[in-house]
Order: sequence, then C-alpha cells, then structure tokens
Amino acid sequence: MKKILLFSLVTLSLQLSAQEVFNYDEAKVGNLPLPVLLTPDVKTAADWKRSRRPEILQLFTTHMYGVYPGKPAHMHTLVQRIDSNALGGTAISKQVRLFLAKGDQAPFMDILLYLPKKTSKPVPVFIGCNFLGNHTISGDTNILVKQVINPVALGFQERRWEAAKIIEKGYGLATFHYGDVEPDSSNGWKTGVRSRMQEELKTAPEAWSAIGVWAWGLSRLMDHLETEKNVDAKRVIITGHSRLGKAALWAAANDTRFAAVVSNNSGEGGAALSTRWFGETTLRINTRFPHWFIAAYKQYNEKPETLPFDQHMLLALIAPRPLYVASATEDLWTDPTGEFLAAKAAEPVYKLFKYEGLGVSAIPAPDHPVGKRIRYHLRTGKHDILWYDWEQFIRFAKEELP
Ligand code: GCU
Repeated sequence: MKKILLFSLVTLSLQLSAQEVFNYDEAKVGNLPLPVLLTPDVKTAADWKRSRRPEILQLFTTHMYGVYPGKPAHMHTLVQRIDSNALGGTAISKQVRLFLAKGDQAPFMDILLYLPKKTSKPVPVFIGCNFLGNHTISGDTNILVKQVINPVALGFQERRWEAAKIIEKGYGLATFHYGDVEPDSSNGWKTGVRSRMQEELKTAPEAWSAIGVWAWGLSRLMDHLETEKNVDAKRVIITGHSRLGKAALWAAANDTRFAAVVSNNSGEGGAALSTRWFGETTLRINTRFPHWFIAAYKQYNEKPETLPFDQHMLLALIAPRPLYVASATEDLWTDPTGEFLAAKAAEPVYKLFKYEGLGVSAIPAPDHPVGKRIRYHLRTGKHDILWYDWEQFIRFAKEELP
C-alpha cells in the first residue's frame, strides 16, 4: 500500500514538474508553420464570408470554446438606480438588472452604464466584463455592492477603468461582473448560466465553456445596449483584459454587432499563437483552468501544433472590423511576440476587404503603436490595463469608428 502511495506521489510530482517547464527563450520557440488561414479557393471578401469564415468559426466551436447559444426568449430588466450627477457631475450612471429568463428568480447580470452628460446625440460605448464587481471599477458611491463579491473595496480597480477620463473623451462605458453569468472556478458551471439555463437555451453545460459563457454575457449586454436610446449601438467597442480579453475576442467572432474589438494582454487562448512554445502553454491553461475551454481542447495539451487552427484565425474572424491587440513588455507569460505575430498573420483577410494591416513586419519598440485597421502596441510594464492603453484604444476608436 505504502509503495503504491509512494509510487503515485512520485508520478504526480514528475507530472507536475513536466508541466512547469516554460520557455522564455525566443531561440527555442522554433518555426512551426501556422495552419492555413486562406485556402486557395478563397480569393475575395465574398468567398471569405460565404465559406472560409463559417468553416473557421466552426473549428473554434468544435475544438476550443464550444457552442454560442442565441438570445434567450424572455429577458427583462429592472432599473435599479439612475444618477444624473455621476463621476463629478460629468456623467449619468444607470444600473440595470438584466434578467436572462422569465421571473425574478432567473439568473441575471447587473449592468453598470456610464454615459457622458454633455452630448446631443447617442454616444459610442466601450464595454467589457470586470473581474471583481461593478463597485470596484470606480470610486462612485452610488454603485450598488453585491454582498457575494464584497469585501473587495469600492474603486479598487479604478486605475484599470478610468471611467471619468473615458467619459471626458466622449465615450460611454458599460460593464458587468463576469461571475454573474458563471463563477470562475471548475465548479462554476453548476451555479451559472450553463446549468441554470440549459433548458431555456437548449444547450448542455459541457457543450460550451466558461469563456463561452462570459462572451455570451457580453452579447446579452449588447442586447440591452440596443435598447438604450442614448447609446450608439452601431459603435460599441468590446474590450477585455487577460482572460476577459479571450472572452471579448470569442464574443466578437460570434457576434458581429460589436463594431470594434480590443484585446488587452489576452495571451494563451486569446490573441497569442498557441503553437509557439513561449510563456503559458496549452497544457498549463487546460490543467490550471479546466473550465475555460471545452473537453475537446484538452486533446491538444501536449501537441498544440496539431490543432486545425491557431489564434491568428480567431483574429481574422473579426475582419473587416477594427481590431486592436495590446501587449506589455514585462508580461512574458502572454507571449507578446506571439500576440503580434497572430495579428500580423490575420492581415490577409483584412486585405481582402481592402484594409491596411499593421504595416510592419517585426514587433515594434515599446510604446510605439503600429497599424491602422489592425493595431498593436507593446506597453512598457506589467500585465495590466492602464490609461496609456486606453488612450491608444480611444485614438483608435476615433480614427477607425468615427
Ligand atoms: C492567468 C492565466 C492567463 C490569464 C490570466 C488572467 O495568468 O494563465 O491565461 O489570461 O490568468 O486572466 O489574469
């Protein structure tokens, strides 16, 4: 018995140490060919839309993120609070509980929307999920605090959102806590939408993934924004940092109502190429976060190079909409070069639509954004989303989504 125990402990620790080998040496990455984005039969934008795009979307659905259910039939809202003097008197804030099914016991998302006060017409809006609750995105004391995600303090992540500055630039901002639709843990599906709405959505929990649900929640936020008369629903820019950047990309791939897309430090399973052995690996993400992707994705743990796609193809699904990919110099875990190369490799599809891509072939110097319809920057610093990033995203939105 003891021997068996010892044997399994040794095997376990060997497995763990095997998992912990992470490469940060560009010379060791190798030069694997990327799966083919444009097959020879795809010559025009129309060919892309008709055949190749749906094919690629299906590949991501079957092998990685799972299905993307549609809009539930019985959504309804409850306006919880409106403050016409928010953010130092510059904004109107609106807090809305969006019920995703019939009745007041249905799963819901609590939406926080800020709109600039000074405006004569509907405004474009940046949207994204937040990590720690709506009350953490600004120091605004009107934000309702949900007990479950307390005690994280009011305004704790203000520097990541900078709502007042975004408003000052003429944009709105809308968010919800990602845990509203599925708590981020391997058991989260049991209490989230995947379990509670399986009948309504006619979708089994294992048919989609946590990232799939967060993305789907962003589409439901979009449904709501379409009903807000002061929001320009044709100019909604979807954003996300890190795991929420992965969700934003997947949402935009499925839902073309998002007019522009920003991925910030989204890394493995987001904007970074999986076949590059650098930073986080497919094995590690699937072991550490088994709920993020569907079970089928795990068959690629040891051999991501056998995937029938790579993340440049996810980025290509955004075309011809404006796409911004942002990395950070000290955030090697996300593989900044892999993010740049994925954006670069998505260019041929933008070219079919006559849009310019990045305009450079090598990763730019820190703090020198490059590109036009597809943009990229490498901010100096850590894994984070800071005002520097937002400034670039706002400039990009002004230019590409005027
Ligand atoms: C971990 C994970 C990343 C993820 C990040 C985050 O570092 O490995 O894939 O993007 O968490 O969401 O903060």
